[in-house]
Amino acid sequence: SHARITLDRDFTIGEVPRRIFGSFVEHMGRCVYTGIYEPGHPSADEEGFRTDVLELVKEMGPTVIRYPGGNFVSGYNWEDGVGPVEQRPRRLDGAWHTVESNAFGLHEFVRWSKKAGTEIMEAINLGTRGVDAARELVEYANHPGGTYLSDLRKQHGTAEPFDIRLWCLGNELDGPWQIGHKTADEYGRLAQEAGKAMRFVDPDLELVAVGSSSSAMPTFGSWEHTVLSHAYDEVDYISMHAYYQEEDGDAQSFLATSLDTDYFIESVVATADAVRAKRKAKKFINISFDEWNVWYQRGLDTDDQPHKVSKGWREYPRLIEDEYNVTDAVVVGTLLNSLLRHGDRVTIANQAQLVNVIAPIRSEENGPAWRQTSFWPFARMSELARGQILRVAVDSDKVATKKFGDADLVDVSATWDEEHGRVALFLANRGLDDAADVEVVLRGLGASGVRRAEVLDIPKGGDRFTTNTEQSQPVGLRPLDGVGIDEGVLKLTLPALSWAVVELD
Ligand code: AHR
Repeated sequence: SHARITLDRDFTIGEVPRRIFGSFVEHMGRCVYTGIYEPGHPSADEEGFRTDVLELVKEMGPTVIRYPGGNFVSGYNWEDGVGPVEQRPRRLDGAWHTVESNAFGLHEFVRWSKKAGTEIMEAINLGTRGVDAARELVEYANHPGGTYLSDLRKQHGTAEPFDIRLWCLGNELDGPWQIGHKTADEYGRLAQEAGKAMRFVDPDLELVAVGSSSSAMPTFGSWEHTVLSHAYDEVDYISMHAYYQEEDGDAQSFLATSLDTDYFIESVVATADAVRAKRKAKKFINISFDEWNVWYQRGLDTDDQPHKVSKGWREYPRLIEDEYNVTDAVVVGTLLNSLLRHGDRVTIANQAQLVNVIAPIRSEENGPAWRQTSFWPFARMSELARGQILRVAVDSDKVATKKFGDADLVDVSATWDEEHGRVALFLANRGLDDAADVEVVLRGLGASGVRRAEVLDIPKGGDRFTTNTEQSQPVGLRPLDGVGIDEGVLKLTLPALSWAVVELD
């Protein structure tokens, strides 16, 4: 099998929006409690943050983290999570049928984010609450002082404003499962008014309107159109969410999943631009792809689903702790490629979620933390995708898929960091059986040597379902041999079912 790729220094898509390497921390399952926060854990620091998890987070390199939900946020009172911990109320979280202790809240998340070196993307509750709570939270978080709410923040121990710039105006309000589910008109008006009132408190905010929960939603397309018709002037982004899984053993379609991501992104861009044209607006609405991942949704009657719970009210139960295999890691790599190739319009993206809950990092209560297979494409892309996104001209053999027709065997994205003279390529071989010989024509990029070449593929003695577990983590990156540049052409061979990173200088 074979693929020929051409890169040219003059053919760029735009600057890499570093916020596309975002992640997500929801008060769900064990993402917060026994994930990032576990005061009794041997590795916990003086604030109860797990330093073993924190080290893995830093290594993975998320740039921005969405918080505190998710479905959770649509029934959450932010006030419950601030003030003296012993006075915080225990509450029922209807979204995940969980008891929320509120031991962790906004101040804790701000302090944890500082340690992790990540920007905060704060979601507000537009399910059960509205304009008033939205503007009050902005005042509490961002106003310097001299008012009731900003002084309350000081009383609670943080004199300096949190200075949170990026805000999600609710979560998945197009979904009937959402607490406070709304029609597009109801939500569009609410987002408009909440955004307006939030900006009256702090004019310098970036606001994300809720888009569709998936491209399969019956309202997909019309939802975005209606919401933006109301809130175009008040918001900067429209969100997208997408979760994928292998179905009926059809690995080849699953491996071509990013074709759906491409379609979904391009459709939302078209819809946002149609509203722009109609309104004769100057500004563009960009995309915040603020939940994406592989998620094996096992049907609506499991404990993983909101409101369908048989085990009673529990605190931080195990929810959707998917174990990712080699195939999933390759798919995650292709999803990141799709996001990066659309980086002129997808300028924020958050893999959901960060720890334990459909996450690249796993941890056990009072136990170890480890990297799932999907950790690796994210970590390397966040590390190396810098500078300009290069257009990729791909002439690849095809794989036939049931869901998407023919897909390129080799999937690729590439960046060029002119300042440091680095080209980075992120490649996937979707073929299940055969290696793929790849030639990359490098025009005007001045690349003469291979600095690093690594590959994730099926480990010795394993198969495409091999996962990393608490006991052993056989799936990771190993050096990819035989990579070289000959007269401006990079040559390499991708093993069957693999994801690779090549850095040139
Ligand atoms: O990430 C898990 C859940 O998926 C989120 O809470 C929700 O927004 C989405 O449906």
